[in-house]
Amino acid sequence: TVAVLDFGAQYGQLIARRIRDLHVYSEILPGTISADELFQRKPDAIVLSGGPASVYEPEAPHIDPAILHANIPLLGFCYGHQSIADALGGSVAHTEKGEYGAARLIKAAHCESALLADTPHEQTVWMSHRDSVQHVPEGFSVTASTDICPVAAMENASMNIYATQFHPEVAHTEFGTQMLKNFLFNIAKLTPAWNMDNIVETLCAQMKQHVGNDRVILALSGGVDSSVVAALGARAIGKQMTCVFINHGLLRKNEPEEVEAVFTQQFDVDFIHVHAEDRYAELLKDVVDPEEKRKRIGTQFWKEFFNVAQQLEGVRYLAQGTIYPDIIESGARKTQGSASTIKSHHNLIPFPDGVHFDLIEPLDHFFKDEVRKLGLALGLPEHIVYRQPFPGPGLAIRIIGAVDAEKLAILKNADAIVREELDAYNKRLYEETGEHNSQHAAWQYFAVLPDVKSVGVMGDERTYARPIIVRAVESSDAMTADWARLPYDVLARISGRIVAEVPGVNRVAYDITSKPPATIEWE
Ligand code: XMP
Repeated sequence: TVAVLDFGAQYGQLIARRIRDLHVYSEILPGTISADELFQRKPDAIVLSGGPASVYEPEAPHIDPAILHANIPLLGFCYGHQSIADALGGSVAHTEKGEYGAARLIKAAHCESALLADTPHEQTVWMSHRDSVQHVPEGFSVTASTDICPVAAMENASMNIYATQFHPEVAHTEFGTQMLKNFLFNIAKLTPAWNMDNIVETLCAQMKQHVGNDRVILALSGGVDSSVVAALGARAIGKQMTCVFINHGLLRKNEPEEVEAVFTQQFDVDFIHVHAEDRYAELLKDVVDPEEKRKRIGTQFWKEFFNVAQQLEGVRYLAQGTIYPDIIESGARKTQGSASTIKSHHNLIPFPDGVHFDLIEPLDHFFKDEVRKLGLALGLPEHIVYRQPFPGPGLAIRIIGAVDAEKLAILKNADAIVREELDAYNKRLYEETGEHNSQHAAWQYFAVLPDVKSVGVMGDERTYARPIIVRAVESSDAMTADWARLPYDVLARISGRIVAEVPGVNRVAYDITSKPPATIEWE
């Protein structure tokens, strides 16, 4: 394991990703972790990230100096580089104007740095700093510099410490990958063994050992994360895992049938399909307010889930598809032990009085795209692995106003056409570009049913029927989004098909608003 000590929110993530891409497992820990706590985790190597602070600020995070004396291979970037200098008796100061962007790095004469091995004497690196190391600590040598930054790289090979002012982890550093490889494979002597097949093996063994003979229950939504947990459970413990699929009747067309088929025919788990459609229909009758819809749907979900869970014998564990960003972004596990995290997670689950399950979260160390790769390695079909985000309250928040069976049927059929056509459009783009979610592909797309009617004419008949709004956005994280610039012929096909194939619809509109100011969903 490579421990990435993070000195500023988000800086560590990119480094951890880059190391994992080189097939070495890495995890992110707080920069201020104590040496004892870090050593308990037995890291094979340590990386110190950059960060926004200045080492002399009173609030600046400091590395525990014992970590630097442990002779564990250690690499520091930017703020990490400066904190090494500061902690070991060197000095750091403000430079006149800082250095941002591409810089020309020149290696020291007769440089034999193992970190810079197999990189040219002069090369482009990416800099972003105001502070600079002025004097290196005793025993360190300067291995490279730029015009503005005399100590752009320094090291003390006998202490196993290497540091750079620039950022090898960003793509703009020409030989950054080579430097990371030098550090991981030559200096730290790690083997690139972290690949999906090994990971599946390890995760299965861990889950098996963790749960012993006890029963595990999972709320399976059919989304990527819970599906991967289910597939993993199937491989690790088989029918000892019960997957509870609550069908609220608000899923997309054919979706409940598809989920059931995958987890009864392809995977060996205990699958329970809870038909709650009628109860939800009753619960949502005449409810117009979007937040009230969300609240009722969410509350009923846990009610249905625990009804089933309490009837099962011997359930000890509740599996959840929590993923790594959920944890690092919430900061839940950053500074606290795992016990307190479990508590904070538990608070989110409304356990009924007297009911308690221990949580297992097998994906809590994986980034989203790693979860997808895991899913593929476990044999999940692509339509689940590459599924787009879908809100928990389902189609209820895509029907503006009160939900009823007739509107649901219209929306399901129209939405199926939107997805069919845009899946095909994305597939064509994928074939051209070779990447899923290529920049021009639509990232999330669906139909919305507004609460109005309009006049139309079909044949010789005047119609008074509903419109469908098509929503398709480009985004990477749903925080911001832009409406997809779909080709007119794709839009024309969608419109033509919806009006021809979905009774009750006589008009189709395309939503051309970005987020902000709009949101992706309509409610
Ligand atoms: P908005 O509409 O806020 O949506 O731009 C951002 C992303 O979140 C999804 N979304 C939800 N997901 N429960 C969910 O699980 C919800 O209530 C919910 N509302 C929105 C939405 O589909 C988009 O991807």
